[in-house]
Amino acid sequence: MAAIHPSVDFRSDTVTWPTEAMRAAMASAVVGDDVYGEDPTVSALEDLAAAMLGKEAGLFVTSGTQGNLIAALSHAQRGDEAIMGEDAHTFCWEAGGMAVLGSLTPRPLPTDHRGRMDLTQIRHAIREDDPHLPTSRLILLENSSGGNHGAALEPEYFEAVHAIAQTHGLRVHLDGARLFNAATALGCAPTAMTQWVDSVSICLSKGLCAPVGSVLVGSQDFIHMARRQRKLLGGGMRQAGVLAAAGVIALKTMTQRLQDDHTTAQQLAQGLATIPGILINPAQVETNMVFFDLADTLPLAPTDLVNRLKQGYDLHIGGYHHRTLRAVTHYWITPEQVNHLIAAIRAIVQGE
Ligand SMILES: Cc1ncc(COP(=O)(O)O)c(C=O)c1O
Repeated sequence: MAAIHPSVDFRSDTVTWPTEAMRAAMASAVVGDDVYGEDPTVSALEDLAAAMLGKEAGLFVTSGTQGNLIAALSHAQRGDEAIMGEDAHTFCWEAGGMAVLGSLTPRPLPTDHRGRMDLTQIRHAIREDDPHLPTSRLILLENSSGGNHGAALEPEYFEAVHAIAQTHGLRVHLDGARLFNAATALGCAPTAMTQWVDSVSICLSKGLCAPVGSVLVGSQDFIHMARRQRKLLGGGMRQAGVLAAAGVIALKTMTQRLQDDHTTAQQLAQGLATIPGILINPAQVETNMVFFDLADTLPLAPTDLVNRLKQGYDLHIGGYHHRTLRAVTHYWITPEQVNHLIAAIRAIVQGE
């Protein structure tokens, strides 16, 4: 029986452990050398992801960061420019990879409270063909929007961005690390969004509980190029079917249960809203991410709250910025644990 770590961890859905079914599938996975294209379990995962996202082909990659980087390197060339939200994961949290390794210029644009760039600003950011200027090549989108309460952005936004990209000959990549959360919240299939983009990267190792990996999907030609970029980045893995086996379960079964995590996130938000000094609007919680602020009047530093939850209750939440904190629900968080967290925060805030 697999050992289960006892901590109750709300810091992120990246902390999720694989399920027993995943561990069993990993143990019995049929494998081969995937760099030779001979791992049937990896191929099955790639085909499944491509089918679920309405694309021709898929590529198993090591992480969400690598999926986004490979996409950028495959769509654009040295000297090109990529438009993205200024709070997008690709801009803020991926070590500047596309600039460092691809010589691409990021063009960050402001976003609204749900992570959407303004369509007019996107149009204005697209450059003339002028030798002084970088070449506008790519637009990067994200859904759900991790920096904006995990907002689930509607298909209409993708359709509108697609229309702009088509007019100007740009490509569109979607960082869909939590695309299945967004689709669940919107009550639509992921293809409602993905039909409007050229490529998508989805993460298996967040709310879907697989231990490792992401899948990048797109056209056959795009994936052909992406396979080359993956090798270049050292991401060609050999008997990776051991990992992909968990990914197949993630896509087949874990995508079907994400509403449970959104329900516990809503439960947490509503509970926190009853604590004086905690600032939160539960209506902003659309998926599994709960952001809340400590009122300036509260004589409590965010790090103190994080540390006291950890030391006194073995409850783990994340600091975000300034007086904002983040708690994320996932498969290993129960409604009872949510109540425990609410009660612990109430006790600390009230100085008990
Ligand atoms: C929105 C978003 N995109 C991409 C990533 C990168 O995923 P990984 O940690 O697998 O590199 C994350 C990670 O948390 C994320 O939240």
